[in-house]
Amino acid sequence: MSKRTPLYEGKAKVLYEGPEPGTLIQHFKDDATAFNNQKRGTVIGKGILNNRISEYLMLRLEEMGIETHFIKALNMREQLVKAVDIIPVEVVVRNVTAGSLAKRFGVEEGMALPRPLIEFYLKSDELGDPMVSEEHIMMFGWADPLELEEMKVQAIRVNDFLSGLFLGVGIKLVDFKLEFGRIFDEDGNVYIILADEISPDNCRLWDIQTGNKMDKDRFRHDMGGVEEAYQEVAKRLGVLVDPNKPVSGDGKPKKVGKKAPVKTGKTIKSPVGDASNNNDI
Ligand SMILES: Nc1ncnc2c1ncn2[C@@H]1O[C@H](COP(=O)(O)OP(=O)(O)OP(=O)(O)O)[C@@H](O)[C@H]1O
Ligand SMILES: [Mg+2]
Repeated sequence: MSKRTPLYEGKAKVLYEGPEPGTLIQHFKDDATAFNNQKRGTVIGKGILNNRISEYLMLRLEEMGIETHFIKALNMREQLVKAVDIIPVEVVVRNVTAGSLAKRFGVEEGMALPRPLIEFYLKSDELGDPMVSEEHIMMFGWADPLELEEMKVQAIRVNDFLSGLFLGVGIKLVDFKLEFGRIFDEDGNVYIILADEISPDNCRLWDIQTGNKMDKDRFRHDMGGVEEAYQEVAKRLGVLVDPNKPVSGDGKPKKVGKKAPVKTGKTIKSPVGDASNNNDI
């Protein structure tokens, strides 16, 4: 049993204090929720799979020069990440119509969009994550214009790269949700980096051959085979966790090495330190 005190417990993850200042431990649970928390359940093994899938995808993105919060894997359910100041805006990128986009505008699911569509949703469970415009984001100071631009540029880069990566394993990346956060250096410069997770919980992934859904929609719509679908995604990415291995890591955090200095990412000039529309992803 864990004796650590959680800093934050969300719907799918728990955040613990990391071993060094500026770090956090992200613990992936098996809990699943949908439709703004109205539907709740557990998908056995989901946390282990999402931990591995997210680690894998974040590492591949880092290789492409996209700065992320991921530092290192700790155990089957936990990863060490850089603590960021989360920008309270969810960035959704869509390649194909599905979910709330199809519903809201009365369009058919599965239509390829002429180019990637970026949408923004305010991170607010109380308000049901309403869709917001760039004007709203700047007007209310959730992000400044430079930060917004940076999030859009990074989101498109992530989409280009992940679309190709998934295509290579026979999966269509229909849409996904990203969260970004700010980190600060000693000089007060602000950097925007990718945070949270990238997993079948916040991507829509369709098998190219069969059109089968391999993501949280299986849970949302009681389609069954949720764990199997997540496992299949992990398997195709080459990161399938051995189901016979005992799950470690619910205990104390393992000691980790010294934190590498955080000094990359694109500088956003001026310090900004003080500075149902649910998206369904
Ligand atoms: N590197 C990070 N530093 C600080 N907070 C982070 C980081 N990465 C993710 N988070 C935040 O940690 C929480 C992860 O937990 P979880 O995904 O379970 O939350 P949630 O229930 O979806 O809640 P929320 O509505 O806040 O996203 C989220 O609030 C997310 O924004
Ligand atoms: Mg979340």
